[in-house]
Amino acid sequence: MKILNPTRIPLSLYIHLPWCEKRCPYCDFNIEINKQEGDEEALINAILSDLDNSKDYINNRKFISIYFGGGTPSLVSIKVIRRLITKLKNDLLIHRDCEINFELNPKEVNEKYINGLIAAGINRISIGIQSFDQATLSSLERNHNENDSLKAIEIISAIDSINTTIDLIYGVMGQTLDSLKKDIEIFCNYSIDHLSLYQLTIEPNTIFYKKKLLLPEEKLIADMEKAAKNILNSNQFHQYEVSSWSKKNKYSNHNLNYWMYGDYLGVGPGAHSKITINESIKRMIKLKAVQSYIDNPIKTKDLFINSETYDLDLAMNLLRIKQGVSFKEIEEKGVYISDTFMDKRLEGIEKGLLDKEGVKATSIGYKFLNDTINLFS
Ligand SMILES: C[S@@+](CC[C@H](N)C(=O)[O-])C[C@H]1O[C@@H](n2cnc3c(N)ncnc32)[C@H](O)[C@@H]1O
Ligand code: SF4
Repeated sequence: MKILNPTRIPLSLYIHLPWCEKRCPYCDFNIEINKQEGDEEALINAILSDLDNSKDYINNRKFISIYFGGGTPSLVSIKVIRRLITKLKNDLLIHRDCEINFELNPKEVNEKYINGLIAAGINRISIGIQSFDQATLSSLERNHNENDSLKAIEIISAIDSINTTIDLIYGVMGQTLDSLKKDIEIFCNYSIDHLSLYQLTIEPNTIFYKKKLLLPEEKLIADMEKAAKNILNSNQFHQYEVSSWSKKNKYSNHNLNYWMYGDYLGVGPGAHSKITINESIKRMIKLKAVQSYIDNPIKTKDLFINSETYDLDLAMNLLRIKQGVSFKEIEEKGVYISDTFMDKRLEGIEKGLLDKEGVKATSIGYKFLNDTINLFS
């Protein structure tokens, strides 16, 4: 592989805070449910030591975005979040335009907690609302109800000093077209910058996988997607990625850095990293169990992307960006494009799956994104 210049590649930080009140039956994220007194301190100490030991991966860069994800980060005290951000500030690791995002579950959304987050340095919050309809929340067996969803969106839409986003979900058992339309209309009635709209996927190793579920048929899913697009477009929200909708310039910088093939350092149990090291790309995964990570925060399971796997790895990310990426942007971000990638791109253009400009799927190529990505395997 061609020599890459790692110091030019933008770097993000992902901090995994693993605890949840209960496990949702559809979720296969790395979570634990029995947080005890003292666990937060022990985990944060491990994360701080992990960061201290990651200097070679950081390689004199500053983080362009920081993402507190979970699990349920909002189960963690402000004191601990403040300690983490202060450490990153003191170590001069935060870029001046850094987006610092924090995920909350609706039950923990209250003015006091959010003001504490803002005072600690958080400038974007993301609420896992899922739905405003009790029937959908009950099908998902969430631990919040429709009143919690409404209260949460009311509170965050009143904040204009920071960016806000919520998650909604579609394709849930029993969910009707009208129910989804209502969810999206409620979202549009509030002043929120961004929406992540996920289709429910049934992941192996989840409780739902073992159950016989009556999921909505393909036709209803397609109608839901069409209706969501119409309502969102007429409210100035545009899709810029598979599940991401935003008002102009309100994109998630953190997620865009993933899809632009930027680097990211992941700390916390089970966190993933992608780091460019001279002529190769190293992907790492931390130990998954909270106690194992606390005992050994440096240990990772590693995988190197080589010239055989590079094109597919790159296409899987770049092609998610709906408006495509120009070669100028790719060059600016220090991303390497191989000759074989360019050959496969030409094949995609001939098949009508890729656009002639930059790296971009055509509308048909975006509809059948997996096939388009597989051109690069
Ligand atoms: C892993 S959660 C973390 C944040 C927070 N705990 C929450 O539930 O919103 C992030 C988002 O992923 C969604 N998610 C998790 N598993 C999913 C699945 N199988 N299909 C669709 N969305 C899923 C959740 O509903 C949530 O909106
Ligand atoms: S969806 Fe969110 S709250 Fe539910 S188990 Fe997963 S991380 Fe926890």
